[in-house]
Amino acid sequence: MSWPKSGRSDVLDPTEAELSPKSFAVIAGFMRRVCGVTLPENKRFMVQTRLHKRLGAAACTSFEAYIEHAFGGSGNAEEQAELIHVLTTHKTDFFREPYHFELLRRWVVDTYAPGARRPVRIWSAACSTGEEPYSIAMSLMNVPGVDFKVLATDVSASVLQAAKAGVYDQHQVAPIPPELRQRYLRPVDGRRDQVQIAREIQGKVRFASLNLNLSSYPIRPQADVVFCRNVLIYFDRFTQINVLRRILAVLAPGGILLLGHSESIQGMALPLRGVGVTAYEHCPTR
Ligand SMILES: C[S@@+](CC[C@H](N)C(=O)[O-])C[C@H]1O[C@@H](n2cnc3c(N)ncnc32)[C@H](O)[C@@H]1O
Repeated sequence: MSWPKSGRSDVLDPTEAELSPKSFAVIAGFMRRVCGVTLPENKRFMVQTRLHKRLGAAACTSFEAYIEHAFGGSGNAEEQAELIHVLTTHKTDFFREPYHFELLRRWVVDTYAPGARRPVRIWSAACSTGEEPYSIAMSLMNVPGVDFKVLATDVSASVLQAAKAGVYDQHQVAPIPPELRQRYLRPVDGRRDQVQIAREIQGKVRFASLNLNLSSYPIRPQADVVFCRNVLIYFDRFTQINVLRRILAVLAPGGILLLGHSESIQGMALPLRGVGVTAYEHCPTR
């Protein structure tokens, strides 16, 4: 049994600081405005816990001091990037929701093989630490007569850095089918517990920073397939619809959109036709 915490907002140990409803509203407002991410009041304690580390790093003993540190004056861009990273969820896996990778392979074979005249363009729109785009590349690497390229983007600079390195713990690569593991993973010098994605796969993926809450996406030419999985759930419905509209502006007619298994377009009146589990074809004339 432990004693209750001090309940004070200004304390010597940052892990004791409490996030008041007023300070929570400032942080939630920032996340909503900048990233489109909704943080309801019942997430206040989660936000408080996740931000204690940032208070420590910034030598702040209260959330009020931290807010001044992050947003005071003309704003502290570096701290705001850290804040976005800490308050977004990055859970991902290789071959997560595996039916999408089967569907992708089948669709590419039916649509482009053999002898496609140009590379198939695939956009992984919230790629986290890289497992999704690397799974895409591994899935398509040996489709005969088809070339492809993957653009992988995220709002968090930290996850993009990890994704570019392409180094994973052995337990993280367990979902990769054994024959692909053998072909596309390399040992890391002096680290038996880690592996690195092979250069031939890394060379197929370009990582870049892109916030889905921007008013338009600078993606030219249009993508043929968009993976936008397990990110819409953090947005409110209005933002979800706007994000999907902007995605459709950069998805070729006849192209495929893949969402996460718990994400739905029901009632959104978008020009999409279901072609599988949370998989849609872009039909602009509908
Ligand atoms: C739960 S992960 C999903 C990763 C992968 N798509 C998957 O399904 O496994 C959600 C990712 O969305 C990113 N994200 C959150 N808000 C975003 C935004 N406004 N723009 C771009 N990415 C965002 C987060 O940084 C995080 O890496």
